[in-house]
Amino acid sequence: MSVRTVAISLTVLAATVVTATGRRPAAAPVTLVLGVDHPGASIAKTMVGVFFEDINFAADGGLYPERVKNRSFEFPDALMGWKRATPAAGAFTVRTDAAVSANNPHYLRVEGTDPAQPFGVMNDGFRGIGVEAGKSYVFSVVARRVGNGPTALRAEVGGALGAVYGTARVDGIGPNWQRHSVTLVPTRTQPSGRLSVFLDGPGAMDVDVVSLFPAETYKNRPGGLRKDLGELLDALHPGFLRFPGGCIVEGRYLEYRYQWKKTIGDPADRTLIVNRWNDEFVNKPAPDYYQSFGLGFFEYFQLAEDIGAEPLPILNCGMACQFNSGELASMNRIDQYIQDALDLIEFANGPITSTWGKRRADLGHPAPFSMKLLGVGNEQWGPDYLPRFAAFQKALKAKYPDVQLVASADPFIDRPAAKEQSASLRGMGADLIDEHFYRTPDWFLAHASQYDGYARTGSKIFVGEYAAHVRPVGSGESRNVWQAALAEAAFLTGLERNADVVRMSAYAPLFAHTDAWQWTPNLIWFDNLRAFATPNYYVQQLFAANRGETVLPISRDGKPVEGQDGLFASAATVDGGHGFLVKLVNATDGPMPVRIEVPGAGDATGEAVFIAADPLAENSLAAPDRVKPIQEPVTMNAGVIERTLPAHSVTVLRPAR
Ligand code: AHR
Repeated sequence: MSVRTVAISLTVLAATVVTATGRRPAAAPVTLVLGVDHPGASIAKTMVGVFFEDINFAADGGLYPERVKNRSFEFPDALMGWKRATPAAGAFTVRTDAAVSANNPHYLRVEGTDPAQPFGVMNDGFRGIGVEAGKSYVFSVVARRVGNGPTALRAEVGGALGAVYGTARVDGIGPNWQRHSVTLVPTRTQPSGRLSVFLDGPGAMDVDVVSLFPAETYKNRPGGLRKDLGELLDALHPGFLRFPGGCIVEGRYLEYRYQWKKTIGDPADRTLIVNRWNDEFVNKPAPDYYQSFGLGFFEYFQLAEDIGAEPLPILNCGMACQFNSGELASMNRIDQYIQDALDLIEFANGPITSTWGKRRADLGHPAPFSMKLLGVGNEQWGPDYLPRFAAFQKALKAKYPDVQLVASADPFIDRPAAKEQSASLRGMGADLIDEHFYRTPDWFLAHASQYDGYARTGSKIFVGEYAAHVRPVGSGESRNVWQAALAEAAFLTGLERNADVVRMSAYAPLFAHTDAWQWTPNLIWFDNLRAFATPNYYVQQLFAANRGETVLPISRDGKPVEGQDGLFASAATVDGGHGFLVKLVNATDGPMPVRIEVPGAGDATGEAVFIAADPLAENSLAAPDRVKPIQEPVTMNAGVIERTLPAHSVTVLRPAR
């Protein structure tokens, strides 16, 4: 049955955006015609996904909710984050003899010499240690008694000035390394407290992997992900999860590239490395930014599965970040990088009888993760990339022809060399080419037609990173204002209209800690206890949750609606072609009446969802709901929907579900 003959009910999602397009007289309605009998390309499930990178303390201090910074004393400054907790007599030293493991070679010897007062050390967490009253936290430590030292210790959560909000005692610490866990329940909420660990009497004890972790996590996995952040990802309905970045994949030098095999297994045994964003921006130094890999590749795959997203890992292709050293692995050393990729596919998809499939099963996931996508390099350019991509492609396609390979476009996409690189990748039959756009809102408004002229066959496009910046990229001054989100919505209508070319897209970056960020804007902001979704998040959510199945043409005077008079539109079938939805963006500063004609349709009721706001409006921890979608009824009479789009708004008209 076609949408022409079906009585549908409609929902309109409308969002208002501030733009430079100017005021339009509100009088005459703009007539749009929906081509219900001319369905086009299918819209990929992956059209709107998420891009995760450990930037802005997105992993340690964020989605990976360990409260203790430098828990294993493996930062180059092994005492960073730690200090004495008391004036009592005693000392603490970093040692390496008879360590917990080769990958975790440092530990702390704590020794109290005052029989009257317990000695202890204190950790200041990630911009403080956040705890909520009445919630359970697992305090754990790998410890051993030294000589006749104490056999017990006390963990204490408190404020910086000595107030105590919760304690827990660990007993039975013997002479050999052993992990001990107890539950600690604070009596007060404290977003930026401290964790202290006191010895139970004079003498020495060795401690390592000192951890305070919320008992409640996303999907309640022990040692799992931060619940509120996981739920925000889930609620976005992303079609895919790209991980682990971004520039972090490449590393400043190859030594610091992301190596997935070092991020699985016992979290205490994962080798720490510096975070590439530690000192990237002189105006936002983060000397305490390291990667513990508590959030590693197994957890990324599991998260993708939990949120119903296709996993898309991106691997280093033998090139360090070209914005930094650009260090190259020579072509005769490239095999080890390719082997990592082959092993990753086996880890994700292989039977449990295979080496890496067994590792996955041993980690608790015997079923394959059914990985279908794999990225080779991030933001690579110049003559060294193509031979490296070719070597990966040859080896990976020979063994796994069904895994789609994502190739990197030159990030300076407008220069001639970038066009040559993309042409070469097309010539090589790259499945997807990853294009990135960090541009002004006006650029996004002007480029809703970006993909109208792309070749309709051959390599498909992954708009792998994009965000509208109201201030220069990298300045740290761009904000998540509605103006930017509205422009992204306009751009998204263009991606949808070109769904035969564009199969995937993601806003970037995803997360930022309000007290520890390096980059703005970002999709979701959080502090140690709270989080809020930005206007940009709600645009992504609207488009992801209302993706539709097959593109329907929607036209004005016979042409695509891609910015004429500040109006943008896209449309798609839903419910197996029995219904439709329409997305409309009014980027002007005045209301815009529209009349949508649906040939052959009759009367129906439905729902409109829209966002309309002042161009400079933004959400915050204090006001998280300033910009968010509103729902209201909408009707169709004799195949015509009439609606006035608010100024600066995004509107989705969709069949009721
Ligand atoms: O999203 C932030 C950074 O921007 C990414 O790491 C990189 O790929 C791009 O340059």
